[in-house]
Amino acid sequence: MSKKFSKEPLRGMKDFYPSDLRKVRWIEELIGDIANLYDYEEFESPLMESIDIFAAKSSEELVNEQSFIVEKKKGTRLILRPELTPSLARMVARKSQELKRPIRWYSNPVCFRYERPQRGRMRSFQQVNFDILDETSLYAELEMFQILIDILTSFGATSKQFQIYYNNRRLVDAVCKIMLGIPEKDLSKVYKVIDKSEKMNEQEFKDFLKESFKDARICDGIVKLKGVNNLDELVQCFENVPQEFYESIGYKEITELENLIRDNEIVSYCSLNFSVVRGLDYYTGTVFELFDTGSKNIRSICGGGRYDDLLSLFSNEKITGVGFGMGVLMLSLFLETYGLIPDYIGEKDYTDTIYIASINEKVSSYAIKISKLLREEDLPCIVDYRFNNLKNQLSKAGDIGVLITLILGPKEMELNKVTVKNMKTEEQKIVNLEDLVDEIFEIIDYFGDTEE
Ligand code: HAM
Repeated sequence: MSKKFSKEPLRGMKDFYPSDLRKVRWIEELIGDIANLYDYEEFESPLMESIDIFAAKSSEELVNEQSFIVEKKKGTRLILRPELTPSLARMVARKSQELKRPIRWYSNPVCFRYERPQRGRMRSFQQVNFDILDETSLYAELEMFQILIDILTSFGATSKQFQIYYNNRRLVDAVCKIMLGIPEKDLSKVYKVIDKSEKMNEQEFKDFLKESFKDARICDGIVKLKGVNNLDELVQCFENVPQEFYESIGYKEITELENLIRDNEIVSYCSLNFSVVRGLDYYTGTVFELFDTGSKNIRSICGGGRYDDLLSLFSNEKITGVGFGMGVLMLSLFLETYGLIPDYIGEKDYTDTIYIASINEKVSSYAIKISKLLREEDLPCIVDYRFNNLKNQLSKAGDIGVLITLILGPKEMELNKVTVKNMKTEEQKIVNLEDLVDEIFEIIDYFGDTEE
């Protein structure tokens, strides 16, 4: 016997059977509707990019440890995109002069990361992205939060089930530089330490801090920063906060964003959280992540932020952007956790399908001719090719739940007629071929599914 290959997909990759894909498409459709409501235009970029653009601005870990690399020929390394944002920046830089501002774009790419597969994390995954570029005001951040809230609430989720945790890197910078005297060059180290801290217990974090910053005052300050919950607590836990801190861009931005959140009545969905700094290097201002507030889904559902310098990789033009990526897998796990995916989504609905059953094979071309005619009218139909066994054909039509079955025999073919069976009432009616479509629509209008 020849060797049999494994039926399993590669580790971290997923097969999407039709019932899985129906759920994904249902989720995507709803997100697409929100994109339309906010006027975000869909775009696509290539699956492969030059590795250099990710190495320059994403993160060392993402490129060195988590990427799938393709070596086209010796020395030319391509990357299967681990995320979309550098490609978005490239595309915007390429046609910057032609694009209407602000640019509102959305995309739903498959991305690849060589991560340990675990709940909510795969090596190949879909990530919905929304980005707004060339909008310098914090209304851009507000819009991102509103889009996220609209997406989650339109599935039926509430503020008790999810939260957007936000912070601002410029605020972290101000605390570090003004209160703790950390030099500019070490700021990225602070982000890294705080970002990694989420995966550590308290002692591991303290040890890691000590290793990264020898100075006890700095270590203590970073622990304090992580431990407080709001701006008042933050300023209270540092002594003699200089005026310079209150005048810093970071402080001003976070205060302004808090006001926007309050004035626009989304306070219950958003929480300031100084532990959020994000692992990607290109963020410069606001950063945010969306989490399930329960204990079942511990990884982020969405992450995003403002990036001021990403386009500098491609041109001298400075265009700021704010955006987020939301994992479709994480979102579906969240929705399943709270019972927000209706059962019927997983089942194929055959109600609108016309089933064509035939008495024998002599009428096969008549059956196929009718199927063509129906499809031209946008009516989906199935021809049963088992021709000889009408009973089996009708029982199959009943099992899958069609509303209408057509029965064709030599007599019908000869007279250009069709027997139409209403499977709900069991009524049968012989109609002329030219009246068939009208008859079908009449039955659908009267007996068809009224649900969307
Ligand atoms: P990110 O935080 O790396 O951000 O990813 C965003 C979301 O993608 C995560 O919250 C998670 O839901 C999903 N995700 C990430 N890795 C995986 C994985 N291995 N398996 C399944 N889902 C995953 C970014 O990628 C930024 N480029 C987002 C962005 C857009 N920032 C500005 N615009």
